[in-house]
Amino acid sequence: MKGLILSGGYGTRLRPITYSHQKQLIPVANKPILFYAIEDVIEAGAKEIGIIVGPNKEQVIETVKSTDWNAEIDFIYQGEPKGLAHTILVAEDFLDDEFVMYLGDNILREGIVEHAKKFKENNYDASIMLTEVENPQQFGVADINEDGTIKRLVEKPKVPPSNLALVGIYFFKPVILEACKSIKPSWRNEFEITDAIQWLIDNGYEVGWTKVNGWWKDTGKPEDIFEANRLILDDLTHEIKGEVKGEIRGRVSIDEGTKVNENSVIKGPALIGKNCLIKDGYIGPYTSIGNRCEIINSEVEDSVVMDGAKRINAGNIVDSMIGRGAVIEKNNSLPKGSKFIIGDNSWVGIG
Ligand code: TTP
Repeated sequence: MKGLILSGGYGTRLRPITYSHQKQLIPVANKPILFYAIEDVIEAGAKEIGIIVGPNKEQVIETVKSTDWNAEIDFIYQGEPKGLAHTILVAEDFLDDEFVMYLGDNILREGIVEHAKKFKENNYDASIMLTEVENPQQFGVADINEDGTIKRLVEKPKVPPSNLALVGIYFFKPVILEACKSIKPSWRNEFEITDAIQWLIDNGYEVGWTKVNGWWKDTGKPEDIFEANRLILDDLTHEIKGEVKGEIRGRVSIDEGTKVNENSVIKGPALIGKNCLIKDGYIGPYTSIGNRCEIINSEVEDSVVMDGAKRINAGNIVDSMIGRGAVIEKNNSLPKGSKFIIGDNSWVGIG
């Protein structure tokens, strides 16, 4: 089985971060979201993986190539993000065998090994993964027949036929190419994967499904990133490599070269990368701090802080996503008052 992992798209709901940082490279527990997808696909046995790249493609290629993977990885350029089914058309030459298509911004606790097995055992033409959700109106939802087969798929239904939402991971035989070629763009001018799967159902192909039991997160919005970060940190292993003089409570991971002075408190689950300085600071639960960050006389909780960011005399910062190299500093220069240099579509909540 091959793997097709999607790392294109504009990621508009995560602006301004995504102006300069491809969504799938945003770190969750200090690892790019995309890496969780690559690991799952390799674990399921894929030896050849095609990664769809779009805006910021150089970043994705460079980041993926910075790690040794136990698989051959090709990058496939999608000129414009015209929808999930469009990525299959763009990857046509690569998709000569059955494959798993994995949205590179999805994270799944249990991996996909069992789901891949059922797809193969049942010799399905396609197999989708479904999970129970409380708000099916916000998802693609499956309508299931009494005999357990799929009747139809509906996007964001006002009156949901079930509470089973589509997870962003799909198994296909190459016949999906014919389906993607046969459908028309939707009202939002995208080639929808749900329409392609519906085409398979309507044309008598066998589309199976499996149920996801552990947690699943589609990291489209900032709150989804925080939630995914919390879920991963819940399984954090306690490991202290840095030079720590302050107080550590609970499960905490601190990497090499990081210094925590005696007046600092770190309360887990919390993760701190390499070569950071934590001075007179408090790092609270569910916080991930990247490499080369400085937290000085500031408190941080429930947040994702990316490489090289600094917080100096910055008070208590909660529920925040701070991009690479971003500085939050309180100084005493005149005129007094808050001073901002903020990119387009930034969001600031003053407490
Ligand atoms: P979406 O989250 O639906 O789209 P997006 O990433 O552009 O985000 P937003 O809606 O905030 O603008 O995409 C799901 C996944 O598929 C995501 O990992 C990006 C990827 N994708 C592509 O690679 N190509 C595409 O044409 C589209 C639409 C998405």
